[in-house]
Amino acid sequence: MKIFLIGFMGSGKTHWGRIWARESKMEFFDLDSIIEAQERKTIDAIFNENGETYFRETESETLKTFTEKDNCIIASGGGTPCFHDNMQWMNENGVTVYLKATPEQVMARVKDEKHKRPLLNKLDDDEILLFISQKIKEREPFYSQAHIILPVEELNTESFEKIINS
Ligand code: S3P
Repeated sequence: MKIFLIGFMGSGKTHWGRIWARESKMEFFDLDSIIEAQERKTIDAIFNENGETYFRETESETLKTFTEKDNCIIASGGGTPCFHDNMQWMNENGVTVYLKATPEQVMARVKDEKHKRPLLNKLDDDEILLFISQKIKEREPFYSQAHIILPVEELNTESFEKIINS
């Protein structure tokens, strides 16, 4: 089984992915961390120095290296499902799980680490909530194609059971 966690920044993809992988003896991968290691730069530096188009191409290519992997959980980036054919590819190559968060839940989780997030770090606090709300709305048609949708407030160590038993 190969599981792709999708959802907006701050929805807990990396946090829960790590816990669920440990609990179920699966391997865990974080797509952004793999890209950072490959490029030897932070995501923020890739956006600033190479541009978003380059990042999205690299992201899609890196995602597709998972064809050969099995028994793993992959935390994608918040934008991964919305570029190239990534959402369709993930749906055809594994089980997709959308960790669904409201704009307020996202805001509470990202406001102290916005320097790490190139799409947020040029906005002030008043602009961020509006930006998050608009982006979630724009991305929802992609996210909602997931096989399984789990609201973030319901997540716990056992939520993973639901995923593998469904
Ligand atoms: C992005 C989300 C980030 C990272 C990049 C772009 C997005 O991942 O891939 O900053 O477009 O929403 P996280 O969701 O892991 O923060």
